[in-house]
Amino acid sequence: MSKRRILVTSALPYANGEIHLGHLLEYIQTDIWVRFQKTQGHECHYVCADDAHGTPIMLKADEMGIEPEALIAEVSKRHQSDFSDFNINFSQFHSTHSEENRYFSELIYSRLKDSGFIEKRVISQAFDPEKEMFLPDRFIKGECPKCGADDQYGDNCEACGATYSTTELKNARSVVSGAIPIEKDSEHYFFDLPQFEDQLKEWTNAGHLQDEVSNKLAEWFEQGLQQWDISRDKPYFGFQIPGTEDKYFYVWLDAPIGYMASFKKLCDNSDLEFDDFFAKGSDTELYHFIGKDIVYFHALFWPATLMGSNFRTPNAIFAHGFLSVNGQKMSKSRGTFIQARTYLDSFNPECLRYYYAYKLSAKIDDIDLNLEDFKQRVNSDIVGKVVNIASRSASFVTKKFEKELSSLCIEQDLYDEFVAANSEIAQHYEARNFGHAMRSIMKLADKANQYIDDKKPWQLIKEEGREQEVHEITSLAINLFRVLMTYLKPVLPEMAKQSEVFLNIDSLNWDDVKTPLLSHQINKFKPLMTRIEDEQIEAMVESSKG
Ligand code: MSP
Ligand code: ZN
Repeated sequence: MSKRRILVTSALPYANGEIHLGHLLEYIQTDIWVRFQKTQGHECHYVCADDAHGTPIMLKADEMGIEPEALIAEVSKRHQSDFSDFNINFSQFHSTHSEENRYFSELIYSRLKDSGFIEKRVISQAFDPEKEMFLPDRFIKGECPKCGADDQYGDNCEACGATYSTTELKNARSVVSGAIPIEKDSEHYFFDLPQFEDQLKEWTNAGHLQDEVSNKLAEWFEQGLQQWDISRDKPYFGFQIPGTEDKYFYVWLDAPIGYMASFKKLCDNSDLEFDDFFAKGSDTELYHFIGKDIVYFHALFWPATLMGSNFRTPNAIFAHGFLSVNGQKMSKSRGTFIQARTYLDSFNPECLRYYYAYKLSAKIDDIDLNLEDFKQRVNSDIVGKVVNIASRSASFVTKKFEKELSSLCIEQDLYDEFVAANSEIAQHYEARNFGHAMRSIMKLADKANQYIDDKKPWQLIKEEGREQEVHEITSLAINLFRVLMTYLKPVLPEMAKQSEVFLNIDSLNWDDVKTPLLSHQINKFKPLMTRIEDEQIEAMVESSKG
C-alpha cells in the first residue's frame, strides 16, 4: 500500500479542570490509532490543544483572583504532563487562546460573513444585574417548576428529570452573585446552518460517520436545523468579533478551529504545509476523534463551517461512548471520579492503555472500567501471558547459552502462524476494533505458552544431550514474544521500548517480524510489568473520594 498522509485530532479538553479517566479513554484511543498508523509506515500527525475560552474559565479565574491567561497557562502544564505520563504522543499540543487560532477564527468568520452565512438579531436572555453579565443556563439555579426540588440548574431537574426553560424556574438565582436574574435584550450573531441542509445531508450519508451517528443526525434533520448563536456579550474570555466593541466568538465557534491552529503551529515548526491538509480538494486524510456528547458540534456545525469558508471537510468523525466506573457514572463520593494524576500515583499507565484497548471498538457504546476486572485482565493477559513467555525463556538463554539465540528456527510453522496473523491484527487496528486486535494477540500468546508447556524445557535441560533442543525451544519462545510485542507496540509503547532493550534491537518494526532473530545476542531480562494488587486499587479509590 502506498504511504498515506494523515492528520488526526482528539477533542480539546477544557482548560478549567483536570484530566480524568473519562477523558483518557479518548486520548488513549486516538494515540493507539496514530501509533498504529506509524507502524504501517504512514505519515500521521496528531494534534490537540486546550480549549481555553468561555464563561466557566473566566469565572474560575475570577474566583481564584488571577487572570484567565494565568489559569490556562497553569492548567496547560498539568494537562501536558498528564498526557505525556500516559505516553500520549501529540505532534503538537497548543491552545485555542493563541494567535494562530485568532487568525483562523477571524478568517473563517469573515469568509462566512462575506458569503452571507451570518445574521444579526436581538434576543432576550437571563442577565445578572449585580455581576453585569449574561448567564448561561448552568449559572442559574432555583426550584424545579414540576416537582419543587431546590437547587436545580437552569434547564433541567436532577431530582425528577424534567426539562424546562430558565424563565420557568422558581426563585431563580444567579450562581455567580446570588442576585435575581433579569431578562435583557442584546444583539447576537448567528451562523445560518439551515442554508447547509442539503450539503450536510449529503455529507452525513457519504460514509464519513458511524451508523449510530448517522441515525442520530437523521433525527436532527427531522427536527429541523436551527441558526446557531455564535456570539457572546462582554464580559467574556475569548476573541472579540472583528468590527464589534463588545461581542465575542462563542467558545464552540473557535474550539474546532483550534484543530487548525494547532496544526498551523506544527507546520511553522516543521516543513509541513498547512494547505496540504486543509485546502479544499487536498488528498490527505483528516480524522477527528470525539466523545458522543459533542457529535452535534462535529458532524453538523463543524463541516458546515468548513464548507462555508472554503476549507476541506474531514474524512471521518470517530465517536466513542462514555466511560463509567464499576458500572456507574463516575462519582466523587464513591471515589470513582479518578483523575489522571491519582491513577498515576498507584499504577503503570500502560495497564490502563491495555484495558481500554481491550474494551474499545468502533461503536459508540459506553465503556465500563470495572476495577476488579481491570486487575484480572491486566494480570492475566499482560503479566500472565505475554511477559511470562519472555520471563520463563530468558533465563535459559542467559545462563546456559551466553545470551545468544539459536541459529535456527525449530518450528517454522508455528513462527509463520504468528507472522501471518499480522494482517488480521492490522485490519482490527485500522477499523478501531482494538478489542478484537487484543483478543487475536492473546490467542497467539496462549499458543506460545502452550508450546513451552508442551516442550517443558525445564525438564529437558536435566536430560543428557538435549541442550541444543532447549536452546532452540527457548529461542523460539523469545522470537514469538518479539512478534507479540511488535503487535502490542501501539498500545504498550513503554513496554515495547523495554523489550527492545531486552531483545537488543533498535526498534520492534511491523515488517521485521517476517524473519526471526537467529544467532542474535540479547540482554538480561528485567521484569516488564508487575501484577496489580488490591491495595493499589483501594489507595486510588480512597484518594479520589470527597
Ligand atoms: N472542549 C470540548 C471539546 C472541544 S473540541 C473542538 C469538550 N471538552 S471536555 O473536556 O469536556 O471533553 C473532552 C473530550 O473528552 C470530549 O470528546 C469528551 O466526550 C471526552 N470525555 C469527557 N468525559 C468523558 C467520559 N466520562 N467518557 C468518555 N469520554 C469523555 O467537550
Ligand atoms: Zn424536578
